[in-house]
Amino acid sequence: MGGEKLVTLVLVSCLFCTCCHGFTPQDNYLINCGSPSNSSLMDRVFMSDKLASNLLSSDNQEILASQSSSSSSDIYQTARVFTGVASYKISVARGRHWVRLHFNPFNYQTYQMGSAKFAVSSQTHVLLSDFTVKSRDVKEYSLNVETDDLVLTFTPSGGSFAFVNAIEVISVPASLITSSPPPRVVGGSGAFQGSLSSHAFETIHRLNMGGSLVTPNNDTLTRTWQPDSGFLLEKNLAKTVSKIPTVNFVPGYATEETAPKTVYGTCTEMNSDQNPNAIFNVTWAFDVDPGFQYFLRFHFCDIVSLSLNQLYFNLYIDSMLAVTDLDLSTYVDNTLAGAYSMDLVMPSPKSSNKMRVSIGPSTVHTDYPNAIVNGLEIMKMNNSRGQLSDGAFLPGGGPSTKQKNVGLIVGATVGPLLALALLGVCFVFFCKKRKLGQDGYSKTWMPFSINGTSVGSKGSRGTTLTSITTNANYRIPFAAVKDATNNFDESRNIGVGGFGKVYKGELNDGTRVAVKRGNPKSQQGLAEFRTEIEMLSQFRHRHLVSLIGYCDENNEMILVYEYMENGTVKGHLYGSGLPSLTWKQRLEICIGAARGLHYLHTGDSKPVIHRDVKSANILLDENFMAKVADFGLSKTGPELDQTHVSTAVKGSFGYLDPEYFRRQQLTEKSDVYSFGVVLFEVLCARPVIDPTLPREMVNLAEWAMKWQKKGLLDQIIDQSLRGNIRPDSLRKFAETAEKCLADYGVDRPSMGDVLWNLEYALQLQEAVVDGEPEDNSTNMIGDLPPQINNFSQGDTSVNVPGTAGRFEESSIDDLSGVSMSKVFSQLVKSEGR
Ligand SMILES: *[C@@H]1O[C@H](CO)[C@@H](O)[C@H](O)[C@H]1NC(C)=O
Ligand SMILES: *[C@@H]1O[C@H](CO)[C@@H](O)[C@H](O)[C@H]1NC(C)=O
Ligand SMILES: *[C@@H]1O[C@H](CO)[C@@H](O)[C@H](O)[C@H]1NC(C)=O
Ligand SMILES: *[C@@H]1O[C@H](CO)[C@@H](O)[C@H](O)[C@H]1NC(C)=O
Repeated sequence: MGGEKLVTLVLVSCLFCTCCHGFTPQDNYLINCGSPSNSSLMDRVFMSDKLASNLLSSDNQEILASQSSSSSSDIYQTARVFTGVASYKISVARGRHWVRLHFNPFNYQTYQMGSAKFAVSSQTHVLLSDFTVKSRDVKEYSLNVETDDLVLTFTPSGGSFAFVNAIEVISVPASLITSSPPPRVVGGSGAFQGSLSSHAFETIHRLNMGGSLVTPNNDTLTRTWQPDSGFLLEKNLAKTVSKIPTVNFVPGYATEETAPKTVYGTCTEMNSDQNPNAIFNVTWAFDVDPGFQYFLRFHFCDIVSLSLNQLYFNLYIDSMLAVTDLDLSTYVDNTLAGAYSMDLVMPSPKSSNKMRVSIGPSTVHTDYPNAIVNGLEIMKMNNSRGQLSDGAFLPGGGPSTKQKNVGLIVGATVGPLLALALLGVCFVFFCKKRKLGQDGYSKTWMPFSINGTSVGSKGSRGTTLTSITTNANYRIPFAAVKDATNNFDESRNIGVGGFGKVYKGELNDGTRVAVKRGNPKSQQGLAEFRTEIEMLSQFRHRHLVSLIGYCDENNEMILVYEYMENGTVKGHLYGSGLPSLTWKQRLEICIGAARGLHYLHTGDSKPVIHRDVKSANILLDENFMAKVADFGLSKTGPELDQTHVSTAVKGSFGYLDPEYFRRQQLTEKSDVYSFGVVLFEVLCARPVIDPTLPREMVNLAEWAMKWQKKGLLDQIIDQSLRGNIRPDSLRKFAETAEKCLADYGVDRPSMGDVLWNLEYALQLQEAVVDGEPEDNSTNMIGDLPPQINNFSQGDTSVNVPGTAGRFEESSIDDLSGVSMSKVFSQLVKSEGR
């Protein structure tokens, strides 16, 4: 069986490694992608990924490609091509691993791999996004895997495809990167705050200064070290020294794992041949990606001095003094030629895409002016969104592209048994009982009491749900749908969604409807179709678009909804030329949508996570009342004893919760995040992703957060709102949006809190309309007493003077379902059966 072969191979590779040197990696996967046979690269055997191909999904989204028909034993001659989202799932021991991705763009049939564009991500980090391979390339990452599997997901960028030639996943000793002591931050601000152990790194450069190429089989950790001469700015100012046998590995300092002896035993030093007393710098320049922090590891070993305390030099990074009067002999127990490594963190170079590293002699100890470096590693650190690449990236491709996850599973125990075991694990996982979390579903939004009677509390929805009919009652004959749309007349087409075309129609009782006709070939569509019917026939709410019926005759997938006169919120924000909405209208729309979502999240028995909250999924009726639409992706949320649903990442780019993306665990806080993006979108009236804008502006969420943090959000709001928003209202609104975008779900407010804050923002706005002078208005409204701000934590009932009217409306909200369902049963009677 394939599994046994795999195990053997892994063992063989491990043995090979141990015979070189000390460290034996627990995991040592060398995978030759898309090839039916094993291949070797510099004496390292890469195992065919076909050995596990029985675990690939059958829908043929992956293609095996080979450059030549000859059975060349080169990992770069074959590739696996993915036309949809696909993953390799590799079972690993927890801890830090190298992940190396080998790419060689060649042409195979119609696939020109040089034009492939895709993203690669792990469960926790985005490694590559919008990545295109120009020439043969190896990308190396160091990831700390905190789960028992490493899932590497390849996501083609819209319409493109992904490929990979080979993958390495190899354990790294935990001691290689630690925060004790924490590295110094270049440019002054002390030690690096934060734990390095959770960071992901991408190796940008790894250099053997003054030496030659070190290949993976000459390094205990299978690293590649490049010579440095190509990076020197002025080669004539430097010269090389090689004294490999003199290197001392002093216990407690650098080890052979930190860097091999061949690295410590060579260095680049100042070329003082012309004038031994000359004072100058030797400088290297490296290409870096601005906007990221870099982890720099310098390897030093004084192989040039004849006695202790001779060599004193300075180290500069981007002209900033990083270390002064460095005397290596005092660092390593007064040992000459002791191997020593020094870590630094370089804050993100904001604009420049070059990083310069210079060494120069000390200006204090000037007897023997010289300066050396033996090795240097430059590693990019993930940003706060867990990314190592900030290109546009559409995880899951959004709902509008049909795709399925193709999982090729390669593990130490491969085979159908593993699949069974995984199923078992999933089952156990879902059954596992868990106590209510603080961020969980125990929290019920408690609206205000009006005249002493609490309204809209938990129980009231129960009554609205009792009258829900079964799905079958919603079935509409195909003939009726054809009639309603004049046989799907193209002139009635009002849009195309991911699911299919949308037509405007009229039922024979005069009810205006929107008819969504799914593409019958789409498997994905079928799932969405079912979800939508299930969700919408269960949940009825004034702020959720109503399903009038569906039709599944002749393999059709047709959904019939109430017609929403004013289209999407997005259409009223930009790009359509419609008159812009007032601030009050926008607030009311946000409040309505928040109500709909709040209702979904706090469902009595089955909380629902929408998963695709965006301005295009919030519709407006003839009175501009907002209703949340498109439940095709929604998932029944965790039952009360779980805190998240683990699921494939779906959603829309620009709105997607980074935490959901990293952890693939869904909570209602993912909707809160997306809703926060909608709030900024409503405020700024621009697309959430606009690739035509300068880089820092492309992503609205990031851009708006930047201005919000500076307290200058008013600088980037919709022109037409300028001067028409009361500062207090704007502040409340912006704070709410900001909280929704917190990095971690636990820090985000619940939809109930969001709703309350938006109501408050509306009150603050309306106070102006009531004729309050602009400047002392803050005093008029004041901040509400703390118990109101905390209301959602308890069941404190508070009377807020002057708000009864609006909250009364919210109480009607929950009751409206009753009348809606009455309307439905009538409609269904007249149209159905
Ligand atoms: C690949 O290599 C392993 C171990 O060297 C061996 O057991 C296996 O038969 C090889 N597979 C193929 C298809 O050559
Ligand atoms: C690298 O390893 C090979 C054997 O694998 C050996 O022959 C060679 O001398 C080594 N090179 C260096 C620089 O150590
Ligand atoms: C070396 O580079 C640093 C940083 O750019 C600079 O301040 C220093 O003056 C340079 N030293 C010499 C001797 O040029
Ligand atoms: C990198 O990601 C980790 C979690 O994976 C996070 O703890 C860390 O803060 C991130 N780095 C930065 C600079 O935000």
